Amino acid sequence: MEKTFLMLKPDAVQRKMIGRLVQRFEDKGFELLGAKLTRMTMKQAEIHYAEHAGKPFYGELIDFITSGPVFAMVWQGEQAIAMSRTMMGKTNPLEAAPGTIRGDYATDKGLNVIHGSDSPESAEREIANMFEPGELLPSGPPIASRSN
Ligand code: TYD
Ligand code: MG
Repeated sequence: MEKTFLMLKPDAVQRKMIGRLVQRFEDKGFELLGAKLTRMTMKQAEIHYAEHAGKPFYGELIDFITSGPVFAMVWQGEQAIAMSRTMMGKTNPLEAAPGTIRGDYATDKGLNVIHGSDSPESAEREIANMFEPGELLPSGPPIASRSN
């Protein structure tokens, strides 16, 4: 079972897309371990996007991601990292296939609706950046099959 950090970006929240995007991951069969509507602090944004520091789009990226509330989530599932990235579609909306989230809803390379971790290491770092351990259900067997 793998955990991933998915985050609906300020454009998605502003466009009132939270419900239908959460639905896709529930329908896929992933388990939601935690979620919150919050605004990223500058510090959180810099940690989240540390790998992009110094790139030409970095300033705009930080401005955008801190511009309004985001919907941060932790999901669990078999190969949840790679599978959710397939569901998101390519970063460039021109290359994002129809049927994917970005393919269906994004036209801009920056305002592209959703973030998803790209490796177990980034998932761990991104989750710790946005959630206290006590805010998350423990990972493990599907919640429906648990006794409590
Ligand atoms: P990246 O991690 O490469 O993409 P992804 O979100 O698919 O993991 O880039 C992070 C974000 O930075 C991306 O979602 C949108 C923005 N970005 C740009 O605005 N321009 C660019 O050329 C790239 C590569 C990314
Ligand atoms: Mg990335």
